[in-house]
Amino acid sequence: MAKVLITSGPTREPIDPVRFIANASSGRMGQALAEEALRLGHEVTVVAGPQEIPLPQKAQIIPVTTALEMLEATRNLHPQTDILIGAAAVSDYRPKESHQNKRARNDSTWSLEMVANPDILKTLGEFKNEQQLHVGFALETPNTDEEGIERAQSKLQKKNLDWIVLNRASAIGSTHDEFWLISKEGEVLELGELSKTELAAELWKVIPV
Ligand code: CTP
Repeated sequence: MAKVLITSGPTREPIDPVRFIANASSGRMGQALAEEALRLGHEVTVVAGPQEIPLPQKAQIIPVTTALEMLEATRNLHPQTDILIGAAAVSDYRPKESHQNKRARNDSTWSLEMVANPDILKTLGEFKNEQQLHVGFALETPNTDEEGIERAQSKLQKKNLDWIVLNRASAIGSTHDEFWLISKEGEVLELGELSKTELAAELWKVIPV
């Protein structure tokens, strides 16, 4: 039995008390990965942004809202983790300032200054030890399969991952997509079109536990 940590869902980056920047992630991938890990008998913790798909009750769920909160929660849990899977669609940017009061409407334009959020998987990759295994996702819109594979391989290296799942941007919110599993040893497994539940089963087959 391994200790599994999964990030899941979108993050929300506040603009003011009622507005935020987010993305269309449903959290379906995180849910499928957590279900399969529990079925295999692992101990599962999910650090989850505000996602619409419910997570399994047998998992320990740490709810977070922003990318910075997700980073803090995962950093705290990482030393006790055997397998980390980054399935969250983390917002790459956040508004530089979050206003305390709701911004009133007027007729002029409104420019929002954004700053980069930290890369959670890359940050945790710097703390990874020999026993830990990290898996990430690469959501790409390539012109060719080869280009997608190359981009995923470069993300795998940059984030110090053991495996990366390549899929297409059309996967956001959808049930099926075309997937590839790519390892740091250079294996490229073309899985074809799968549901996220099927992908979760395939991914857990290659994780050595
Ligand atoms: N990820 C993360 N922290 C971020 C952004 C992404 O941990 N701030 C993780 C995601 O959970 C996913 C992987 O990194 O597992 C790849 O995310 P993706 O959006 O495809 O790539 P980016 O690294 O953001 O690169 P780019 O936006 O340039 O494609």
